[in-house]
Amino acid sequence: MLDESKNVTGYNVARSLRWVDGELFILDQTRLPGEIVENRQETIEQVWESIQQLKVRGAPAIGVAAAYGLLVGMRPFRERPLAEFFGMLKEKAAYLNSSRPTAVNLGWSLKRMTDFAKAQSGQTGSAAQLYELLVEEACRIHAEDQAICRAIGEHGLQLIHAGAGVLTHCNAGALATSELGTATAPLYLAHARGINFRIYADETRPLLQGARLTTWELQQAGLDVTLICDSMAAHVMSQGLIDICIVGCDRVAANGDAANKIGTLGVAILAQHFKIPFYVACPSSTVDLQTARGDAIVIEERAADEVLFCGTHRTAPQGAKALNPAFDVTPHALIAGFITERGILRPPYAETLARHFG
Ligand code: MRU
Repeated sequence: MLDESKNVTGYNVARSLRWVDGELFILDQTRLPGEIVENRQETIEQVWESIQQLKVRGAPAIGVAAAYGLLVGMRPFRERPLAEFFGMLKEKAAYLNSSRPTAVNLGWSLKRMTDFAKAQSGQTGSAAQLYELLVEEACRIHAEDQAICRAIGEHGLQLIHAGAGVLTHCNAGALATSELGTATAPLYLAHARGINFRIYADETRPLLQGARLTTWELQQAGLDVTLICDSMAAHVMSQGLIDICIVGCDRVAANGDAANKIGTLGVAILAQHFKIPFYVACPSSTVDLQTARGDAIVIEERAADEVLFCGTHRTAPQGAKALNPAFDVTPHALIAGFITERGILRPPYAETLARHFG
C-alpha cells in the first residue's frame, strides 16, 4: 500500500519507501507500472538485493534505503556489547555499500550513520540505546531528503515558463527520492501553481525508467507528459518542442562533471547543438568533492541480459554480445547550471560547488 498522505503538490505521489514502526517497506519499482507492491525488508541481504536489483533506485532513494537498511541489519545486535555492535555496524555498512558503485548517496548516508554512531559513543551506555539514536538519524536523513527536494523545486521553478517544453531522462522523480524528486520537483511545483507546460520523457533503455516510472508518476499527478524513445530526442529538439532539459544525477565531481543514467551525455550533446539549456538537479548528498573529475567516477556495468532482452522478451539473437554501462558522465562544460537546495549554481563549478558544499 502507498502512503495516503498528500505531499506539498497536493497530489498523492508514490512513496519509494517507508519506515513504519521499526520496519522498512520498499516499493518494488521493477513491477511498476503494472503492479504496486511493497515488500517488508526482513534482512540486510534483502535490502542489498532490493538496491542491486533496482527495486529501490535513484541516488537519493538508495541513500535513504541504505540508512534504514543498516538498521534492519543491526537489529539482531541490539542486545550485544557496544564494542561488538560497533564492529558489526562497520561490517554491515561496507556490505550495503557494495550493492551499487556509482551513486555517491549510498556511501554518503552509510558514512553519516557510522560517523554519527562514533560521535554518540561517549554518551550511550548500551547498544540498544545507540540503536534508537541511529533510528532517529536515519529518519533525519529521510526528512532532510524531502526538504531538499522541495527546496530544489522552489529554486528550479524560475526555469519553467508557461508553454515551455521540458525534456527529462530516466527517473529523477518522487520514485527516485523521498518525495518530489529532484529533476521533477520544479515540474510538480510549477504544475501546482497553475503553469501550463509540456514534459517529454525519454524512455531510457535498457530498463525503461522513463517509460515505466517517470511517465507513470507524472501522469498520476496530472502533469502533461509525453513519452519518446531515446532515439527521438534529436528530432523532437529539432522541431522546437524542447526549451529546457532537466535531468538528475548520481555523482557530481568537484569540477562539475556529472554522472547520470546512460544516455544523459547524448541528451546534453544534443542540447548544446540545438542551443537548449541543459540543467542538472542535484541535492548536496550527490556532490562528491573528493572526486576531482568525472573520469574518476566508477561506472556500474550491469548484466548484458538487460540489453539483450526488453523486459522478459529477448530482442537479440542467441550468442549476441552486449555492453551495459548503467551511467555516463556529462562534462561540466555542457551544463548550464546545477539546481540545488541552495540555489542554482553556475560555472565555474569548481568554485561554486566548493563554496556551497565544501
Ligand atoms: O539506475 P537508476 O535507475 O538508479 O538510475 C537513476 C538515475 O540515473 C537518476 O537520474 C539519478 O539517480 C537521480 S535520482 C534523483
